Amino acid sequence: MKVLIVCLMLCVIACAAGTRAISKQSFGKTAEGEEVYLYTLKNSTGTEVAITNYGGTIVSLKVPDRAGKIEDVVLGYDDFNGYLTPKSPYFGATVGRYANRIAKAKFTLDGKEYHLAANNGPNSLHGGLKGFDKQVWSAKDYTDAKGEHLALHYLSEDGEEGYPGNLNVQVIFTLTPRSELQIEYSATTDRDTVLNLTNHSYFNLAGQGKGDILKTQITLLASRFTPVDETLIPTGELRSVAGTPFDFRKPTAIGERIDASDEQLKLGHGYDHNWVLDAPAGKLSLAARAVDPDSGRVLEVLTTQPGVQLYTGNFLDGSISGKGSKPINHRTGFCLETQHFPDSPNHPAFPTAGLKPGQHFHSTTVFRFSIDRSKQDK
Ligand code: GLA
Repeated sequence: MKVLIVCLMLCVIACAAGTRAISKQSFGKTAEGEEVYLYTLKNSTGTEVAITNYGGTIVSLKVPDRAGKIEDVVLGYDDFNGYLTPKSPYFGATVGRYANRIAKAKFTLDGKEYHLAANNGPNSLHGGLKGFDKQVWSAKDYTDAKGEHLALHYLSEDGEEGYPGNLNVQVIFTLTPRSELQIEYSATTDRDTVLNLTNHSYFNLAGQGKGDILKTQITLLASRFTPVDETLIPTGELRSVAGTPFDFRKPTAIGERIDASDEQLKLGHGYDHNWVLDAPAGKLSLAARAVDPDSGRVLEVLTTQPGVQLYTGNFLDGSISGKGSKPINHRTGFCLETQHFPDSPNHPAFPTAGLKPGQHFHSTTVFRFSIDRSKQDK
């Protein structure tokens, strides 16, 4: 009898989750002729996410607004070829082996110096010339009581892009019935190495292509940030946000202070900085909240990581065409890249980004969507 009740409950949960709501279709072929796929995960509230196993990339994320109108809230391209655009700014991608920058494209581990590709001035950015965002991951989709899942796996071989150790990486995307997109990263290595894994989605909660993100209200649960030098490498200081345009402890529009006369904003051409989260790393906690006042769409970001990079699309300049063949203009998307601090391998005082054989790296980030009804209720 008990077994029967449990089975019935699981069935009800699965039905609420929209039963089997994953579809898989061909997305195109790489230059090497390898076929890549687009997986679409849906729940019963109308939320839908499409992810390709090329670069573990979120291609579209459709969520309802206050009136139930669905929009795609991430920047990107209509088709696979777009994702092959040279110097594409990592739209939606899974970034690694080391997301963000490593100063002068080198670091020392166990007394040995490792050299990386300098692909961002003197520094190495987002894993080098062919980072995880440009690799084909193996994929498996499945459904259970927690929601719809896409599990991606990639083996980054010893020496790839200059990093030591064979790194086995798994990223599991889960769309829950509550419109949370959970991203779980795990990794193991056979040699000492460093890693920093993130997702590089550019959000526009009004809908992609619907203007800039300057009205978006952001809250960051962080009392300090890591100021940078002129090449966007942290100086090592953990600076209080109090009294600066970096104080987002209360909801503030991105555009309110972005062009203020501030040395750090000038260096970043806007916000392109790492905030030191107040919550203890390792515990899944709220890191950021973004609200589009007009549509009422809300994005909450929870993470186990110690930092988050708020990047306000300062380098977008209309030179790249995205979905609907429309130019992607300045500051029309913002990223909340949960992460270890940039350049941690060269900053022993920062939380370690090291991984040793026998250790199991595990981190979780959740993009949770909801609706702010306060405006409507007034
Ligand atoms: C990150 C960096 C930015 C920029 C983008 C990609 O967010 O911090 O400076 O390089 O990626 O364009």
